[in-house]
Amino acid sequence: MGYKAKFRVWRGESGEGRLEDFTVEVNEGEVVLDIIHRLQATQAPDLAVRWNCKAGKCGSCSMEINGKPRLGCMTRMSTFTEDETITVTPLRTFPVIKDLVCDVSFNYEKAREIPSFTPPTDVKPGEYRMQQVDVQRSQEFRKCIECFLCQNVCHVIRDHEENKPAFAGPRFFIRIAELDMHPYDVRDRRPQAAQEEHGLGYCNITKCCTEVCPEHIKITDNAIIPMKERAVDRKYDPLVWLGSKIFKR
Ligand code: SF4
Ligand code: F3S
Ligand code: FES
Repeated sequence: MGYKAKFRVWRGESGEGRLEDFTVEVNEGEVVLDIIHRLQATQAPDLAVRWNCKAGKCGSCSMEINGKPRLGCMTRMSTFTEDETITVTPLRTFPVIKDLVCDVSFNYEKAREIPSFTPPTDVKPGEYRMQQVDVQRSQEFRKCIECFLCQNVCHVIRDHEENKPAFAGPRFFIRIAELDMHPYDVRDRRPQAAQEEHGLGYCNITKCCTEVCPEHIKITDNAIIPMKERAVDRKYDPLVWLGSKIFKR
């Protein structure tokens, strides 16, 4: 059965704005993004929201719902009570362009700072042979849909704009970990580099990133903590790095 829900949605541009109240129809099985679309169709035609797949796979519809970073298309209205006011705001860590749409280019800049996969020159494509365990390790990290919810929630940059130049953030720690753990990546990505150039040392393992990841990637346990441990190992013994590459093949 349908009902009328109370929505408060952030409206504005370039950081200037306010919360606007709406009463809007909700039908069985709908998600928050459906309600935002109904608002566009009936009451607020210029309401800006980014979305694409409506299936939890493109990572576009990231927003904060009652203060929690979520995908609008994967947040069912049945998670809320019918008398609850649902507040929808843009991601807090990135500058707002308009309404619920943020400028997430910080993340693309960080992506460009990470050197790409560097295979050995003497092994041709098609000749790579990997242990299943190594394949699985990469696959977990490659499930990332680049929703940037983890980047948004991490306290290192959420309230500290000044940390942004030095901190790549959890999404990029999994990228560095994936490459560093790859047996055919020959670039020395010594986690000291992650520690010093990408700001791994700022992370104090609060695990908020892991909690919000819609792909359930164990960002902290499977990428950040192993990288921190390896950073310590290698700092004292560079042969450990060499050994780790040789024995992983
Ligand atoms: Fe989103 Fe998870 Fe990728 Fe972070 S690691 S960008 S939370 S899918
Ligand atoms: Fe931030 Fe995740 Fe570390 S939320 S502090 S990167 S564990
Ligand atoms: Fe693609 Fe929500 S619209 S993840």
